[in-house]
Amino acid sequence: MYEELRAGGPAVWLNKLGLFAIPRYEQLRTIARDPDSFSSASGVMFNDTVNAAMRGRAIICTDPPQHTAIRRVIRHPIGPDTVRNLADILNQEAQAVVDRLVEAGEFDGVTDFAYHLPLTVISRLVGIPETGRERMLDWASALFQGAGPDNPASRAAFPTLMDMLRYQEEEAVPPNLRPGGWAQAIYDAADRGEIDRSSCAGMMSAYLAPSLDTTINGISSAMMLFGQHPEQWDLIREDPSLIPNAVNEALRLESPLQRFSRLATRDYAVGDITIPEGTRVMLLFGSANRDERRWEDPTRFDVRRPRVSEHVAFGFGPHTCLGSNLARLEMRALFEALSARVERFEISDLVRSTNQLLRGLTSMRVKLVS
Ligand code: HEM
Repeated sequence: MYEELRAGGPAVWLNKLGLFAIPRYEQLRTIARDPDSFSSASGVMFNDTVNAAMRGRAIICTDPPQHTAIRRVIRHPIGPDTVRNLADILNQEAQAVVDRLVEAGEFDGVTDFAYHLPLTVISRLVGIPETGRERMLDWASALFQGAGPDNPASRAAFPTLMDMLRYQEEEAVPPNLRPGGWAQAIYDAADRGEIDRSSCAGMMSAYLAPSLDTTINGISSAMMLFGQHPEQWDLIREDPSLIPNAVNEALRLESPLQRFSRLATRDYAVGDITIPEGTRVMLLFGSANRDERRWEDPTRFDVRRPRVSEHVAFGFGPHTCLGSNLARLEMRALFEALSARVERFEISDLVRSTNQLLRGLTSMRVKLVS
């Protein structure tokens, strides 16, 4: 379907959704880095209910200068410098889970493997009360499901999503937050006068929703790819310094977050097509990452692919993912631990998830040969 869209042009009108799809790499990057012409402030989701609930509150649904001020606070605990300090904890946890799974020999590649680091380490670092940590997974999938076009699947997710918004306002507030945690840091910034206190609850969604499912899908998809392409795993075993490149290649090919949107603030020409002011555009990260104009043999999984870090799985421009360093570090820790012990992944019983924004798996049987 993406191939067809890309062949259709740099902007393709989708009648049923009433928006333009942007399926090619070059135009997606041009639009994503131009918030003056393509705004996030009216919401980046695909239905009015969720856009109305999140705009101007969640960082992802803001434009500069509000976006710049919020991003400065949110990025503090997950920016490249701070995240480097987490490497030891992540490596230790990764080693522990790999030891356990090698011992077991056979397991579920999603729930027994991919869940572990995001759920144990990351949810603890956010520092919200225990009752919320248990619900973070439900909230994450509800956000990305509820963000889809108005249809029965998105509507079914609204109650869970509204529960997350209520929790942000009422429960994930001082003094319920762990001192030193990421959530508390938002309120500390308000105390220092860097942001308005009324914006704190909305900002919490930056940590609650996008830090789990995205990374979980990235981890399990990478394992799936190594299972399907054993010769690529052999290359990793021979030269583990390829792991960071392999992680990016898995993210390019599977793109855990497939799409978000923007609203055109003026008439805008893409090739010979004019996107009229007030029209929504869908940035198809997953399609741009397979654009044959940018990537040679784009559907091939190649851990040695040159310049693969230029993929757009983490978006592009001012809203580029703030958790990208953390997500890559988690994936790297897990596959480094595996490369030292595992010769082969035999995978079977793949079940794809049907989320409207995310691409990934709900389960996958894995047998390790070590
Ligand atoms: C493999 C894992 C991940 C993927 C594929 C991913 C993907 C993305 C993408 C595509 C965007 C851009 C949205 C846009 O342009 O509108 C984004 C933004 C964002 N992500 Fe991630 N993400 C991942 C992990 C994480 C993690 C672990 C965190 C937090 C701990 C996180 C926090 C955020 C935040 C706060 C934004 C909004 C940034 C802004 O609006 O300035 N993400 N992510």
